[in-house]
Amino acid sequence: MDHIVLLQKVSVALFIFALLWKIVKHMWSFLNVEKEPVTVLVTGAAGQIGYAIVPMIARGAMLGADQPVILHMLDIEPAAEALKGVRMELIDAAFPLLKGVVATTDAVEACTGVNIAVMVGGFPRKEGMERKDVMSKNVSIYKAQASALEKHAASDCKVLVVANPANTNALILKEFAPSIPEKNITCLTRLDHNRALGQISERINVYVSDVKNVIIWGNHSSTQYPDVNHATVKTCSGDKPVRELIADDQWLNNEFITTVQQRGAAIIKARKLSSALSAASAACDHVRDWVLGTPKGTWVSMGVYSDGSYGIQPGLIYSFPVNCEKGNWSIVQGLKIDEFSRKKMDATATELMEEKSLAYSCLN
Ligand SMILES: NC(=O)c1ccc[n+]([C@@H]2O[C@H](COP(=O)([O-])OP(=O)(O)OC[C@H]3O[C@@H](n4cnc5c(N)ncnc54)[C@H](O)[C@@H]3O)[C@@H](O)[C@H]2O)c1
Repeated sequence: MDHIVLLQKVSVALFIFALLWKIVKHMWSFLNVEKEPVTVLVTGAAGQIGYAIVPMIARGAMLGADQPVILHMLDIEPAAEALKGVRMELIDAAFPLLKGVVATTDAVEACTGVNIAVMVGGFPRKEGMERKDVMSKNVSIYKAQASALEKHAASDCKVLVVANPANTNALILKEFAPSIPEKNITCLTRLDHNRALGQISERINVYVSDVKNVIIWGNHSSTQYPDVNHATVKTCSGDKPVRELIADDQWLNNEFITTVQQRGAAIIKARKLSSALSAASAACDHVRDWVLGTPKGTWVSMGVYSDGSYGIQPGLIYSFPVNCEKGNWSIVQGLKIDEFSRKKMDATATELMEEKSLAYSCLN
């Protein structure tokens, strides 16, 4: 008799526990769906990369499949009509995560309340233009947008500069937005990083997702140094160094490097347009890993303000290997640098110092 009573009591307790568990799970998913929207600014949104990136953001590729977003899109007056068209398409796509779209040519309206700023808008180099003329146009754009962000964006706004010269535009933005923490201003070299992963995967016929820890050092330009000395490939017998698997230092030290450095030009030659889909996807990867974190044991390349790590002088936005956790990046420390790498890392730093002084000469 006692046994039956006990069994009944246990069944009732189990039933109540299952019921409570269901309620907690339901409330949890309800809380997740109701996450506050994050406001993402895309400048140059009527351009090629803009058109590719806004649907990616609205689908959750940047901030996660459970994160609602509000998109702010900025472009200049001549592109206002095209920008309106992009907004219409975003509405027509009925993205469930998209909780609002602002399309404007007013920098103040665009920057207001922004949590993530993806700076794609800039002045392209046109035929017959001197490097200094292009630099001068971009310096004034980034100086003006720095103050709009500083005054109107959320105080913890994270900034990713995509427009070229990306490292130097980011540096100018940092200089003219002194109240934005320097840790919050970065530039895109993830496209070069992804290109390096892609070249390795093609060469040895492995999945790109099994290759990790390449590094892009320096400038997002043809002096960048794609480094595979610490990169590995996942195999059935554990992670193996890329150098060991490829077993062709001649290829790795020459053709591989120039292919990654010149990939942008190769895309223009083939498409008659510069890379847009891969640049948009890389910008999403950059922000996603920065906000949500890099997987354990994996680093990515980001253009960040140098703190003197690896002998790179402070005062430059330089691409380093970084780990990200809880919304912060930190430069991976203690990697061994051989003489070949040292020279290439210094050469790209020298180019960045030259770009910096050219940018400053445009300000005067
Ligand atoms: N860092 C990288 O890996 C990487 C990769 C690819 C392209 N890029 C650079 O990204 C930038 C954009 O490329 P794209 O192919 O989309 O160019 P695009 O010419 O198609 O678009 C640029 C857009 O910026 C707008 N714009 C110009 N001045 C502006 C301003 N002051 N404020 C707001 N918007 C402005 C233009 O009207 C245009 O709509 C270029 O500078 C390109 O060189 C960088």
